[in-house]
This record gives sequence, structure tokens and C-alpha cells, in this order.
Amino acid sequence: TFIQPPQVEWASGALAKGPLLRKSTRIQDLIEVFADEPARQQLAGEHVVYDVEMLATSSAEGELYTGVTHLYPGHVGGEYFMTRGHFHARREQGEVYFGLRGKGLLLLQNEHGQARLENVFAGSIHIIPGFTAHRLINTGNEVLSALAVWPAIAGHDYAALAKGFTLRVFEENQQILVREVQNG
Ligand code: PA5
Ligand code: NI
Repeated sequence: TFIQPPQVEWASGALAKGPLLRKSTRIQDLIEVFADEPARQQLAGEHVVYDVEMLATSSAEGELYTGVTHLYPGHVGGEYFMTRGHFHARREQGEVYFGLRGKGLLLLQNEHGQARLENVFAGSIHIIPGFTAHRLINTGNEVLSALAVWPAIAGHDYAALAKGFTLRVFEENQQILVREVQNG
């Protein structure tokens, strides 16, 4: 007679036991997201870069959304696979990420273009303040999965970052290389 709540399977990061929404983002969807656009065009467009699973919960003001991002390992022109990244449409709204499995970085950038990188690993907790754009980057050889909780009213603003973040992360000689980008 007890309610069976939705569940995240720690080992796989999969959401289960609840009504879910799913979205896959493929190489072909990520036009001009990576530094080397010709390299992106050479890759198989159907290849999935990341999947997002979300609990189908209320979108009313004050409610929270819960989702898991599964970001696959890979590169485009040496740049690690990453999410598109966004500000929230409601800029003041924050979000929390929890690392579930794999290894990577969370790129955070404020409205002045100042960026920082946090290590993401199983058990890591990331407080994303308001007015802060965010993008996951998979620097490992396995799937990077992270759970996110954010206000339902936050919304996504992808256009504000059309010029990109001010940091890009590459693999060079089996090492992580962070490059600053001039994108003014
Ligand atoms: O709410 C979030 O920030 C995440 O669930 C992201 O939406 C998810 O990681 C996919 O990234 P993006 O929305 O930048 O494509
Ligand atoms: Ni967000």
C-alpha cells in the first residue's frame, strides 16, 4: 500500500518506475556547437551524443523537474563530446547536478563570460547558481551520467550562447587541454 516512487538506478544512472520523457541529441543536431564544424560534418550524423530522460511531472510554477543526462564518450575534431549548454530563460533560476557515473567536467559561465570548470564524478554535487550557463563535458572513456533538478519555470535559452562558451576542452596527447576562446 506504500507508494512506489520513481527510482534512479545508481549503477547505470537510468531513471525507472515513473512516466518518462526522452530526448536524444545527435551529431547532426549540434550544428556549430564544436570548434571544428567541418570535422562534425564528417562524422555520422545519426550518432547520438547524449540522451536525456526526464520524469513527466508538473510544469506549474514552484514545481521541480528531475532528469538524467547520459553523455556518451567521443570527440569532434579532438574536442570532447558535450551538451549544447544553456542559460535558463528565467536567468535567476538555479539548478543542482549530481554526478552518477563516469568522469567529466561541468562548464559554468556567468553573464560576463567568466567561466570555470568543476570535476564531475560519481557522487559529485554541483550547485549551479542563477545567471549561470552550464554544459556537461565527457572527458572519460565511459558514459557520463548526471542527475539534474531544476525549477519547472526556468526554461532554456540556447540562443544567448550562440557564440559559444569562452572555454573549450580538448584531448591532446591523452591529456585534457583547456583552451580559451575569443568569441566577442
Ligand atoms: O536541465 C539541464 O540543465 C539538463 O537537464 C540539460 O538540459 C541536459 O543536460 C541537456 O543539455 P542541453 O539542454 O544544454 O542540451
Ligand atoms: Ni539547466
